[in-house]
Amino acid sequence: MTYRSSLLLACLLMSTAALDVAAQQPAATTAAAPASVLDQRRMQPISGDARVGAGKAAVCAACHGAQGVAVAPNFPNLAGQSASYLYAQLKEFHDGQRSDPVMTGQAAALSDGDMRDLASYYASLAPKPAGQADASSRGAQLYLTGDPAQGIPPCQGCHGPAGLGPQPHPSSAPQPPWATFPHLRGQSGLYLTKELGDFKHGMRGGSSNAKVMHGVAQTLSDDDVQALSAYLSSW
Ligand code: HEC
Ligand code: HEC
Repeated sequence: MTYRSSLLLACLLMSTAALDVAAQQPAATTAAAPASVLDQRRMQPISGDARVGAGKAAVCAACHGAQGVAVAPNFPNLAGQSASYLYAQLKEFHDGQRSDPVMTGQAAALSDGDMRDLASYYASLAPKPAGQADASSRGAQLYLTGDPAQGIPPCQGCHGPAGLGPQPHPSSAPQPPWATFPHLRGQSGLYLTKELGDFKHGMRGGSSNAKVMHGVAQTLSDDDVQALSAYLSSW
């Protein structure tokens, strides 16, 4: 690159930078800066005290159930979910990368220690007992093998062959980045449909993991979402 062309480039860069600043200024006065994306790729295994968490869970039971199995289909089950996943979600609600009119308020007052203890507590509970899913349904087929014609990946590749999430060996050190992937088995159809829609439309996209699901959800039609939600909720 000659001196002249690099000077030209520098001027161009400076002028676009100036434009950027000008474009951002009015917004900065009206809206708060969006929370930065939570990078979960190097997340360490979380440590928390499940017994202490049990003592902090009374308020959560109103929606998520006394044993972590939700009282109504618009709330997710938490029992048996991975602690790293639960902690990451609480932190995202707390810090603003994931938002919900109900859960955002619930997470606001939690300290980092509370989130670790609550995540450890719910991870220690027995998951909802298995149901009777139709293994020959379109939902089962999509979950296990995907649909290459539509670019749908097999869900089990990331959520585990039994729908219980990936199961890294406890001694794996460092923890593999996919240890934070959630289990899906037995979640309600209503909740699953809502989350898949949120991923698809970018409403839930504030973490490196959510961005992975954003790409997957783009491949799903409304019928696929219904089929998968019906299958997973009855599993
Ligand atoms: C008044 C009802 C209500 C209460 C009380 C409540 N939650 Fe929630 N929680 C929700 C709803 C609704 C969602 C789903 C939000 C969404 O769709 O994104 C949720 C989602 C979550 C998730 C994400 C689960 C997943 O699978 O992604 C976690 C973790 C969670 N709640 C933990 C807690 C904890 C811990 C407490 C107590 C401190 C609590 N919640 C109290 C309603 C509640
Ligand atoms: C490449 C890995 C990958 C594949 C394949 C994948 N997922 Fe996911 N999924 C994730 C990750 C990572 C998350 C956690 C996102 C977050 O933390 O917000 C997730 C989260 C979800 C959630 C939210 C769970 C909750 O409790 O809120 C649902 C529902 C889901 N996936 C459904 C599916 C379905 C259905 C398929 C198959 C069509 C699928 N996923 C395929 C990686 C994957």
